[in-house]
This record gives sequence, structure tokens and C-alpha cells, in this order.
Amino acid sequence: MHHLHQAARMHIASVAVSKVGFLFSLMFCGLLLLLIPALQPTARQVDLPQPRPQVKTSVYTLQHNSVIPRVSNSAGGTDHATGLNISSGRFNGTVETELFGTDDYRGTYSEKNSVAVSIPNGQGQILPGSRSRDLLELKDIFIAVKTTRKYHKSRLELLIQTWISHAKEQTYLFSDGDDRELQMRTGVNIINTNCSAAHTRQALCCKMSVEYDKFIESQKKWFCHVDDDNYVILPSLLQLLSSFHHSQDVYLGRPSLDHPIEAAERVKSNGLVSVKFWFATGGAGFCISRGLALKMSPWASLGNFISTAEKIRLPDDCTIGYIIEALLEVKLIHTHLFHSHLENLQKLPTDTVSEQVTLSYGGYENRWNVVSIVGGFSVVEDPTRFKTVHCLLYPDTDWCPKPKPHNKN
Ligand SMILES: *[C@@H]1O[C@H](CO)[C@@H](O)[C@H](O)[C@H]1NC(C)=O
Ligand SMILES: *[C@@H]1O[C@H](CO)[C@@H](O)[C@H](O)[C@H]1NC(C)=O
Ligand SMILES: *[C@@H]1O[C@H](CO)[C@@H](O)[C@H](O)[C@H]1NC(C)=O
Repeated sequence: MHHLHQAARMHIASVAVSKVGFLFSLMFCGLLLLLIPALQPTARQVDLPQPRPQVKTSVYTLQHNSVIPRVSNSAGGTDHATGLNISSGRFNGTVETELFGTDDYRGTYSEKNSVAVSIPNGQGQILPGSRSRDLLELKDIFIAVKTTRKYHKSRLELLIQTWISHAKEQTYLFSDGDDRELQMRTGVNIINTNCSAAHTRQALCCKMSVEYDKFIESQKKWFCHVDDDNYVILPSLLQLLSSFHHSQDVYLGRPSLDHPIEAAERVKSNGLVSVKFWFATGGAGFCISRGLALKMSPWASLGNFISTAEKIRLPDDCTIGYIIEALLEVKLIHTHLFHSHLENLQKLPTDTVSEQVTLSYGGYENRWNVVSIVGGFSVVEDPTRFKTVHCLLYPDTDWCPKPKPHNKN
């Protein structure tokens, strides 16, 4: 929820922006922007593209006409969903990468152009193209909602009444207490993490650690984490994730800063090393492919997440970014379809609300920071606007106001 603020407060001393580094990344991004259009025709014309490293080398921003490597197949391993070897926590095999162009983030695939790469240290090799596309369904997505006992009534009821009602089987509420009553009455999955209810870095990391382990256990293809003040627009989420393959390294979310965070990493010799990475703000929600989640295992599974977080003394969402960007060298895919209460939500154009992936609301501190959308419910009846959004997406819901019949004269 206040990850960014917490991070800023806790690391006011150790976190600094290097101006030189910032200029450098600006130049790098500029260069990339120039390269993107140049890459596309190449991808379409050349029959056998050069082996290229996976997502690692560049910052991919979801935008019109972007080119994203797509892993369409993977070899070997023991994990049912991806074929990756879960026990080793690392994948070293050959995967087939398919370049595809998109008209927008909804993913219209281009021609074959498949290349294969071995990761992390294997050798690239060229494989024949394959069009095997995995059709993603909602049930393939594990949605973790982080909550705390005191919000079961005020926040969870609203989510259960709205978006969770369409994703009950795959949504898990990670809390710090049992709530048999809520569970029995609504049929949702509530997991008591046994973590502290305090809004501290340790408690947040404790919950994330349980979320990670439950996801791995679930065998689902995608891990998405949201907060209990997020509305998840399920059709948009499905569309967005369908643009990728779950065995590819994918880390998707909204960067909470306009520059990478710089943290002091504690190393063995009691020294501090500066490390810079992007992270997706937890308050807006983020998603991780199963392929990537498995590679995170040495630093994230079975309590390792907590010790990793201690190394950099940053909150849960920053730690995820640290593991993925700094340790695994996989880049965050920046998307602005995820929204937290830290943004000005009123600025979101009304006609694009249903295309977003997550929404949020200001809460007590900032009651008027909600998406501007008009519909069946007034701001008094629906202060978060979540019910109004829900009725826009699912007008047949029994509690949604029915449109008045038109008089055809
Ligand atoms: C998975 O990795 C473990 C440990 O590295 C190894 O013993 C096992 O044989 C591997 N399994 C497969 C199917 O590759
Ligand atoms: C990955 O596999 C390749 C080829 O089998 C091998 O040369 C390389 O050493 C392996 N890397 C790791 C980290 O196991
Ligand atoms: C929390 O503690 C209870 C009781 O000891 C246990 O049954 C449950 O599995 C624990 N939850 C987790 C996520 O470990």
C-alpha cells in the first residue's frame, strides 16, 4: 500500500539517484526507441534471425508496434505447467522464442521467425518455427490479494461482491487471521499466513513469501499480486497475459518511480554494494510468469524471500524487483495499465477505464481520488466506483441497476 513511501522513508540515506546514471538510461531508452521500428521489418524479412538473448537485454515497454520475444515452447523439466525443473530452481535448457509484432498490447502475432536460446548460460541455437500458441484461460492465473484482518469487512466484502465473484477458484486472500465466517458465507479462499498484522516491512515480506510458495504449489501459469484496494479487470488481465507465454521470463507492472531505485545491498564481508533496479509497485498489482517465478526460487521460496528482503532492507515489492532485475537480470516490462491509489486516478480517461488491468481508490486519506466514471451508482452509494465499474463490465449482475427501457415512439 505505502510501499513507495516506506521505501523512500527507510532508505532516504542509502537511496540516491545518480544523475549520470539517469542520463545514461535516458540515452539508452532513446536509442531503444530508435531501434524498435528498425527491428520490426528485420524480424519480418529475415528467415533465420540471429540468436538473441532473451528479454534480458532491453527495456520492453508495452506500446503500439512493439516487438516482444515470445517463448512458445520449452524442453525438459519437471514442472507440469512449464516443463521447467522446479527442484533446481534454475532453468538451463532450450526454449523457442517467437518474435511477434503487436498492433497493440492485445497481441496480434506476426510471422514465424523463431529463435531458440538457452538460459541462463546455454548456447543459442536456431529451431524451426512453431506456431503452437497456448490459449490462456482465467483459471490459469493465480491471483493473490494481500490483506489484513481489519480490512476483511471494509475492503474484502466489496472485492468479493465485485471482481472476485468472477474468479473465486483462482483468487487467494492472504491475511493475518482466520475468518471462517467470511469463507463459509462467500466461498472464497482465505489463507492465514500467520504473519504479523503490523504494516511493517517484515510482515509484508512474510506475506509475499507465503503468496510465492502457494503459487508454486498451485501449478498455475501466472502469478498476479494485488492489494485489497484494487479492482482487477479480469478480461483485460487475460488479454494482457495472453500476449506472452508463461514459460517466458515475464515481470509486468507499473514502475513506481520514473527511475530505477538504488539500494545498498549487504554482502558477506559486512560491506555494502550499491545496486540499481526497477520494480513494479505492489499497490498497483504486478504479474510474473511461472517460468520466471521458478527461477526466483533460490531467493524466494520457503522463507528465502524474507532473508533476501533483509539483505537490501526494502519492502516486499522492491524485493521482488531486486530478485528479478538485479539477481536474475530480467527486465520489468513497464505497463501503465496497472493503477495504485498513489496516482491521480481522476486523470484516467473515462472511456479507457474498462481497458485497464487494475484500478484503485484513494481511501480515507484521499476520498476523492477515484476513477471518474458515471453509471448506476452515485458517488455516495459507490464511493470507490468499483460497483459502477463492475456494472459496466458485467451489466447482467443481479444487483446492477437495469437500464430503463426505451420508449420507442
Ligand atoms: C532437476 O534438477 C535436479 C537437481 O539439479 C536433478 O537431480 C534432477 O534430475 C532434475 N530433473 C530433471 C527432470 O531434469
Ligand atoms: C547449461 O547447459 C549448457 C549445455 O548443456 C552447459 O554448457 C552449461 O554449462 C550449462 N549451464 C549451467 C549453469 O548449468
Ligand atoms: C498457520 O498456522 C496454522 C496453525 O498452526 C497452520 O495450520 C497453517 O498451516 C499456518 N499457515 C501457513 C500459511 O503456514
